[in-house]
Amino acid sequence: MSQPLFKKVAFIGLGLIGSSLARVIVAEQLAAQIVASTRSKKTLEDAKALGLIQHGYATPEEAVQDADLIVLALPVRATQKVLEQIKPYLADNAIITDVGSTKGNVVEAAKAVFGENLPIGFVPGHPIAGAEHTGVHAGKVDLFVNHKVILTPLPTSADWAVEKLIQLWSAAKAEVICMDVTKHDEVLAHTSHLPHLMAFNLVEQLANREDNLDIFRYAAGGFRDFSRIAASDPQMWHDIFFANKTAILNAVDGFEQQLSVLKKLIAQEDSQALMGLLGHAQAARQHFNHMLAKKPLMEKNKVTQQFTILPGKKTFTGKFTVPGDKSVSHRSIMFGAIAEGTTHVTGFLEGEDALATLQAFRDMGVSIEGPKNGEVTIHGVGMQGLKAPASALYMGNSGTSMRLLSGMLSAQKFDSVMTGDASLSKRPMERIAKPLREMGALIQTTGEKGTPPVSITGSQALKGIQYDLPMASAQVKSGILLAGLWAAGETSVTEPEPTRDHTERMLRAFGYDVKTEGNKISLIGGGKLVGTDIQVPSDISSAAFFMVGAAITEGADVILEAVGINPTRTGVIEILKQMGADLTVENERIAGGEPIADIHIKGSRTLKGIHMPEDQVPLAIDEFPALFIAAACAEGQTVLTGAAELRVKESDRIQVMADGLKIMGIDCTPTEDGIIIEGKGKSGDWSAIFTGGEIESHHDHRIAMSFSMAGLRTSGNITIHGTETVATSFPTFTELANTAGLDLQVMNP
Ligand code: S3P
Repeated sequence: MSQPLFKKVAFIGLGLIGSSLARVIVAEQLAAQIVASTRSKKTLEDAKALGLIQHGYATPEEAVQDADLIVLALPVRATQKVLEQIKPYLADNAIITDVGSTKGNVVEAAKAVFGENLPIGFVPGHPIAGAEHTGVHAGKVDLFVNHKVILTPLPTSADWAVEKLIQLWSAAKAEVICMDVTKHDEVLAHTSHLPHLMAFNLVEQLANREDNLDIFRYAAGGFRDFSRIAASDPQMWHDIFFANKTAILNAVDGFEQQLSVLKKLIAQEDSQALMGLLGHAQAARQHFNHMLAKKPLMEKNKVTQQFTILPGKKTFTGKFTVPGDKSVSHRSIMFGAIAEGTTHVTGFLEGEDALATLQAFRDMGVSIEGPKNGEVTIHGVGMQGLKAPASALYMGNSGTSMRLLSGMLSAQKFDSVMTGDASLSKRPMERIAKPLREMGALIQTTGEKGTPPVSITGSQALKGIQYDLPMASAQVKSGILLAGLWAAGETSVTEPEPTRDHTERMLRAFGYDVKTEGNKISLIGGGKLVGTDIQVPSDISSAAFFMVGAAITEGADVILEAVGINPTRTGVIEILKQMGADLTVENERIAGGEPIADIHIKGSRTLKGIHMPEDQVPLAIDEFPALFIAAACAEGQTVLTGAAELRVKESDRIQVMADGLKIMGIDCTPTEDGIIIEGKGKSGDWSAIFTGGEIESHHDHRIAMSFSMAGLRTSGNITIHGTETVATSFPTFTELANTAGLDLQVMNP
């Protein structure tokens, strides 16, 4: 048997937290011996009977002798006394940790006992877990599962001690975070101590009223939810409020200020500002839940969700409306925000990327209602109306948000910082920072390789430039043009090949004059945008997965309704047609200034391999992962060249697709700017093409959805890891794909 992590663990105190950790140590066999000291003899006897400890002691000094881990699991106020008692008996290099919910005062207590030279094994900790019940019997082996444990290593703490504690808490299946002591106390003051204080305060306020009986008798859900935590232990909270006094008083000041804003808005009946405030708070609540909670997991590249697609004879049929266009949704918020007057958006994509843009503008003081069923109302603040955000703007997975906003923020009076998730943090930002610097912007890419975070110093007077885009990128083009709105004189961008022109079209819809001559787009700064109505078409990039699914499935018959067919986006239609797909574009019409149509596609003949036309590459740039699946099912070889940009998308889409295709039995060769795929299709033969296997999507939504479609022609199960990013662009994907006939199961962590 391998050595356990610890020889002897001594618990001082064995309540809910201590006894839960003891249960983990027993279950995971992390210690040769566990002992404890508590004031109550009965607790020690019970702990022995429960098999949690081998020995119980009346005093801490007896318990800690020869222990290599000491866990102080008692009220924080007792820390100093216990440390004084155990000091003479500590083994060399013993690790000492605690579980208290304030940390500054624990460190103070330790300094009072040991002086500035604290023992190197001393590493305070705080598991953020609790339950209604207390005591040794209330402990649970799974109390810490998926909970956060904060360790606050000190300058004196040894790395090995921190490392061993991380191993201990990881064995409890907790997520371990290291933080400095002051930061810990500040964060907890806001996230835990202030809410408890407010709950006690509200209950007290209502209890003091004469009609309190009625109030409590008829208390609605709101009161019940809000006041639940006021039923916590008064002694404990009394201690915490004193222990973390400074940080808590600061948090209360912030609360009072915010409360007086709210009071004023109600008193003045300022409806728009009140809606803005409530909408911002509601969105922030969803945003934090939805996006930030996931961030640490993704940063460590842990798989957070997976798809499993089962083989079997498949059909693929139906009429579908895929969600709104991502590019158009982003721009509708951005332009609506800086316009004068109100903008009403319908068909808005309620995916995480577009929501990140929406949140960013709320953070900059724009009042936005919705989204509700794809409807958003933006109360524009005009060209000079954006306000400094209180903290860094979080762009999640969205390159479009970060690059377009780089342009807009470079022209503002305030400083700003933009951050993103693990995938966005690896994407090149110098491509936009460089031309913006030429315009006079003070913009820095503070990541390792010209990558995010992006940091911008405000108050720069920008001047227009003429820029020859070195790569075909609509995001860079748009970022420069948007900065140009505030720049002196003319800003023009010449693109190597035409890219999506939603920025140009939509600026015109907002009344801004934008000129296009060949590949050169120009505008003159200093004008204004006027709020308008925007109808977002369905996203052809999302429809593409269903087009490919239908093209590779025998007898498939799929109609995708009201899809945007802006000519700068229709490369996928052209390429599929060249591969021989049975695809027709029906009912062409104009909606909200963009051409739309129904796309009808059938699985009636085997596709053939082609050399994909290079002039279509920018017009199908997001659709290649899906097209590679089509190519694998085609007869003969497919060659793609001139598509190096695919290497800097949400993942390196050439490499990641090649890796996945190979796992699934497809012969392919990635090249610097494309790929060669040996199609396995045979005319008239609709049998399986893919072997199935385990695919790593690298948290790239389009990789995940493309390999899902391979499930229509697989002989074995396909498991795709890291699929949670599908929600960035196509939140209804699994539902629609299963309705059409795919056998897709979602496994959440
Ligand atoms: C987009 C432009 C493209 C595309 C992205 C959206 C846009 O990126 O891949 O999904 O909305 O402008 P590049 O500009 O990097 O080619």
